[in-house]
Amino acid sequence: MNPRPIKPAGRPLRGTVQVPGDKSIAHRALILGHLAEGGLRVTNLPDGADILATKACLAALGRQSTLPCGDSGTTMRLLMGVLAGTEGEAVLVGGDSLSRRPMARVAEPLLAMGAQVTLSPAGTAPVLVRGRRPLKPLRWRLSVPSAQVKSAVLLAALSADGETVVEDPFGTRDHTERLLSWLAPGIVERDGALVRLRPAPLKGGRSFAVPADPSSAAFFAAAAALVEGSEVSLPGVCVNPTRLGFFEVLRGMGARVELSALRESAGEPVADITVGWAPLRAARVPAGKVPALVDEIPLLAVVASSARGTTRLEGLAELRLKESDRLAGTAAALRALGGEARVDGDALEVRGPTPLRGASVETLGDHRLAMAFSAAALAAQGESALSDAACADKSYPAFFRDLAALRG
Ligand code: S3P
Repeated sequence: MNPRPIKPAGRPLRGTVQVPGDKSIAHRALILGHLAEGGLRVTNLPDGADILATKACLAALGRQSTLPCGDSGTTMRLLMGVLAGTEGEAVLVGGDSLSRRPMARVAEPLLAMGAQVTLSPAGTAPVLVRGRRPLKPLRWRLSVPSAQVKSAVLLAALSADGETVVEDPFGTRDHTERLLSWLAPGIVERDGALVRLRPAPLKGGRSFAVPADPSSAAFFAAAAALVEGSEVSLPGVCVNPTRLGFFEVLRGMGARVELSALRESAGEPVADITVGWAPLRAARVPAGKVPALVDEIPLLAVVASSARGTTRLEGLAELRLKESDRLAGTAAALRALGGEARVDGDALEVRGPTPLRGASVETLGDHRLAMAFSAAALAAQGESALSDAACADKSYPAFFRDLAALRG
């Protein structure tokens, strides 16, 4: 595959970008719509490969014993929860990158609920699930900050004969809880870190519009913060606090970040976001803040290279388990562009401001790295080339088109 050339912005970025619907919410809307009485009409679905995988698996559920999840971790982990509470047997298979990611974190609670789950000896896919109904109710404390694990347990808990309690001391994204509450008021109760679910019928037969994805909006926000004189508007973005960490840190670094026209859509807060350039200063992000910006760490590292001082991002162990080793991949790509980045255990330190210069950047086939380093390339001196930039298709197939439109 030819590397994709990216030229520096050359002039301020100004305009509006309508980013696609939120990937995390879309997976949940499709799955819960499948389970709800009367179904759900879901609009503004993103058309990335991950969502297509969830759609295809749901269409095959009950008809086919092998369910291909592509490289979508959310598809595989959430469907493990659904299958655990469904009588019958199915095998979830993944592509190369998904087949390296850990699945025991999901299998463990589902086994405790009485489902049979078999993984490869390495604790990875293929995942065989033999479900059972009813499942046993469970009390489970998350040992890793993963909304996917929490959601799998909650989806299984819909088929349990009693109350399940999940403790999430990390405050991971809560889209499953919100959508469940919208479909069955009172089904979920939250009490600090505890999420209690008592099974009840989900009432569908309605429409649900997926708000725009803050993780996709973040790339344009970063570009605006990096290219002097820029201002970019991002309408209709999900501003759920469990997802907004990047925008909060960006504002703390000095960028202009304004939220307007705050509204609600099916239990999710939505707003228009405008981001404007300003001189940036370094930030410190402790581990506790990472779940709210876990997918934006590579992008934050890029932004940090333009900020005065040393930015330190802590508690990043989970980044090694994403589509690629994002911790090593981010540091290497930033250094390729002339940035100063250092991995220190589970932390990442970036010193700035360091002028970036165009270079060849290795994306490791990871969509978040491809898009984060496209933003970096806009702010660099000279042309860059991204390996395997088409991997952006995983979450945002129109990314390069939208980027080109913003550049004018
Ligand atoms: C997601 C949760 C996060 C995130 C992923 C989507 C979700 O993963 O990185 O992109 O939709 O629940 P983990 O739950 O494994 O942290």
